[in-house]
Amino acid sequence: MSDRPVPRGPRLRTTLTLLAASALAGGVALAVAPSADAATTLGASAAATGRYFGTAVAANKLSDSTYVGILNREFNAVTPENEMKIDATEPQQNQFSFTNADRIVNHALAQGMKVRGHTLAWYSQQPGWMQSMEGSALRSAMINHITRVATYYRGKVFTWDVVNEAFADSGGGRRDSNLQRTGNDWIEVAFRTARAADPDAKLCYNDYNIDNWTWAKTQGVYNMVRDFKARGVPIDCVGLQSHFNSGSPYASNYRTTMESFAALGVDVQVTELDIEGSGQTQATTYANVVRDCLAVPRCNGITVWGIRDSDSWRASGTPLLFDGSGNKKAAYNSTLEALNAGGTTNPTTPPPTTPPTSPPTSPPVSPTPPTGTTPPPSGTGCTAAYTVNAWTGGFTATVKVSAGSAAVTGWAATLTLPSGSAVTNAWNAQATGSTGAVRFANVSYNGRIAAGSSTEFGFQGTGTPPTGTPACAAS
Ligand code: XIL
Repeated sequence: MSDRPVPRGPRLRTTLTLLAASALAGGVALAVAPSADAATTLGASAAATGRYFGTAVAANKLSDSTYVGILNREFNAVTPENEMKIDATEPQQNQFSFTNADRIVNHALAQGMKVRGHTLAWYSQQPGWMQSMEGSALRSAMINHITRVATYYRGKVFTWDVVNEAFADSGGGRRDSNLQRTGNDWIEVAFRTARAADPDAKLCYNDYNIDNWTWAKTQGVYNMVRDFKARGVPIDCVGLQSHFNSGSPYASNYRTTMESFAALGVDVQVTELDIEGSGQTQATTYANVVRDCLAVPRCNGITVWGIRDSDSWRASGTPLLFDGSGNKKAAYNSTLEALNAGGTTNPTTPPPTTPPTSPPTSPPVSPTPPTGTTPPPSGTGCTAAYTVNAWTGGFTATVKVSAGSAAVTGWAATLTLPSGSAVTNAWNAQATGSTGAVRFANVSYNGRIAAGSSTEFGFQGTGTPPTGTPACAAS
């Protein structure tokens, strides 16, 4: 094992034991002064092992002085609770709204806190226009959304939940959704798109009920991450939401789950921790979660899903560290004590190492026609029409390839990019080249187009888009 316990002096341990005893007895919480190196806040204590301790923040509570007082004192990372979700950031298609997210981001950065971005692609909390979308239009919209939002927050968000909750509750397979119906490769396309937009952010897959190592859902996500790492899909971390309650309790194999993901070469983050319950039982579970994270070097940090019980999305379960009045609960004391006990050091993780793949191949395709030695003359048998969605510095394009009066069994469309522009990502086509004349050939599942029918592919690029009608060649 690579666990490297951080040495801690005996004096600190003694002091902490006294502190804990005092807190547990319900006496004055700080009857014993902490020693010089025992941190007195969650964030400072987590920082001693290179980690963060964060909370979900709601923009409309930033005017609540009790709330902000605890936030600024205790936490060194934040996750916008709802303000970076798709319905919040793109309420109308291609009209982006960052006002509420920016309130949280600006507050956090001014306080020296990290920001986790949550979330770029999710079946839930989609705006109405996206809910009614399917197919290649939705695929393009997803790519455009990820590109625009991740580009906007480049340099401010240190980790993105790129894809949230894509797995089914049982069975270990994918959850049905409009995104899933665009093709099984939607998750890897989302990650490649996020990497292209923000090469320095850590990119996470985030889900609930993937905490217990024995659950099929955990195994399903594990297999996906293993596959992504094997094929070079840019994924850096797995977010364990960790909403614990009687139906989904903390299990002692939680550490095994973290270690197993870490062994695949990704970091883990506890992203939405809340533990329903009260008193010492709840306090013990919080301490267990902290100890597990601190035992795993690649566990970067912990985020609780709200500050006071009254702030929780599950308020009736009193699952957080502060009561409704902002007082520290027993769970707070046990959490701080477990953080102060130390553990492995989380190395300052270098920025992601996988450069943006240009152009990516998703899904990987076997060589496709045309295979003949004499390429068909350009323009034979198919036509291509093209629509583009451009913004300053980038664009996404959708190309419709239509067969004429005869069916085609393979096709390629060629577009010429202006100088300085580049293709960063393509879907439903295999791109050759990324600058100048770029050729997009069919992939295995869309080469055949019946007479009079059409298929669509898309690509994303930086700079300004190509103009003019794409040349189409059929085989
Ligand atoms: C929750 C928020 O806390 C609520 O305010 C909102 O009404 C619904 O979403 N998993 C996630 C989070 O990834 O985004 C969810 O947050 C909780 C479950």
